[in-house]
Amino acid sequence: MWQTISYVSTANKLLSNSDINELFEFVKINNNSLNITGILMYSDGNFFQILEGEKTRIQDLFKRILIDSRHYDVIKIFDHEMEKPTFSKYDSKFSTINKKSEHSELQSFLEKEKSNNPETFKSISYLTNKFMQLS
Ligand SMILES: Cc1cc2nc3c(=O)[nH]c(=O)nc-3n(C[C@H](O)[C@H](O)[C@H](O)COP(=O)(O)O)c2cc1C
Repeated sequence: MWQTISYVSTANKLLSNSDINELFEFVKINNNSLNITGILMYSDGNFFQILEGEKTRIQDLFKRILIDSRHYDVIKIFDHEMEKPTFSKYDSKFSTINKKSEHSELQSFLEKEKSNNPETFKSISYLTNKFMQLS
């Protein structure tokens, strides 16, 4: 069973750029080794993340993320099952997704959300655009 969770959160004010880079490196290595795909973005003091993977793994990871003191005010955007993951790997970008391939995987994800979960599509597409514009 596959699950996807997405949220936005506010970064802890004490985080430096190098703390954020370090977090992104850790997340990339860890997620790729656990077959967790998706994307993590940071922009203007906020994180935005989409996680996809085996259901219990995603749920366990999200519980850990929720209590991480590097951020707060975690607002879940969606949390639902999916037929199969859309992203081919996990990517963390400090502030931007700028490679066409990453962009197109995000677009495919959004297209699927639009037909399968129209009620969350609006907010997710608004947020991803915001995160991309600000970078
Ligand atoms: C914004 C944010 C996103 C995170 N995303 C992930 C993630 O996708 N995968 C991951 O393993 N840890 C992620 N972490 C780190 C986890 O919260 C946690 O520190 C890490 O999984 C290690 O957990 P442990 O110390 O309980 O082993 C994230 C942390 C933050 C602040």
